[in-house]
Amino acid sequence: VTPTPFTVSRVTSLRRRVDGWKRRGQSIAFVPTMGALHDGHRRLIERAAGKGRRVVVSIFVNPTQFGPGEDYAAYPRARRADLKLCREAGADLVFAPGVREVYPAGFATTVHVEGLDRTLCAPHRPGHFDGVTTVVLKLLEMVRPDRLLLGRKDAQQAVICGRMIRDLNLPVVLQVIPTVREPDGLAISSRNRYLTQEERAAAPALYQALDAGRRAIAEGERSAKGVIDLVRRRLDVAGLFRVQYIELVDPRTLEPVEPKPGEQLLAAAAFLGRARLIDNIVVRTGRASRRDATRGASR
Ligand code: PAF
Repeated sequence: VTPTPFTVSRVTSLRRRVDGWKRRGQSIAFVPTMGALHDGHRRLIERAAGKGRRVVVSIFVNPTQFGPGEDYAAYPRARRADLKLCREAGADLVFAPGVREVYPAGFATTVHVEGLDRTLCAPHRPGHFDGVTTVVLKLLEMVRPDRLLLGRKDAQQAVICGRMIRDLNLPVVLQVIPTVREPDGLAISSRNRYLTQEERAAAPALYQALDAGRRAIAEGERSAKGVIDLVRRRLDVAGLFRVQYIELVDPRTLEPVEPKPGEQLLAAAAFLGRARLIDNIVVRTGRASRRDATRGASR
């Protein structure tokens, strides 16, 4: 008997495996990735594997979500280590297609989610989220999972994918998993590998600055500008950062808001050397905070 492969690169082989599981009544959870896997992905895969689900992980560095001058060619690729992590974390199958398998010659379709692209990363990365939604929709059609897991570190990506799923009636439940951090607070990211020793030492200031903003709101700051200025000052003091944006937005509409009881998303992007780091904190205050926290956890 030939052993069933752990990695497949063709949609037909992927479907054969997934359809077999479905015929046996098994539920499928899907974790899309671009490889260079780290403990954040490990957490996603472990969470996906709960409750006896079959777990498919995709590894595909998606060219359409990188802009000109971004790091597509340099994006870290580490296939052996990735497969090891996938096995350890409990994945059942890795789908690692080539570019032509995902985008056949003449590919001409783009998925665009309107209106959630006015703030945060979107204005700074034109076309990025169209690349993300297009590939996520394609991957969902290829894998046909019951559950999709995304990390909250890419908060805008999760919100936009959630809207796409709702708007297009996709038969999949989105589960957003909290950001995994290093002990010093730095959000774990594949791009942290770009940091020099000096930059790595400065990097936790991004989370610390956002957390200072969160505390200011908890202590009664009611001006978004006040919060944003505070975060910016903290990053200036830390040195080395080139801030791209600091914004306080509604976590569902992603529109700018003033601090108020309930939930807001405080998010920032900054360059540290050649690494572009992003991070965010969900700020929960006031009477609405408990209910909102529970709702957020189940999405
Ligand atoms: O978050 C990522 O790694 C990518 O944006 C995703 C969701 C795998 C789509 O290429």
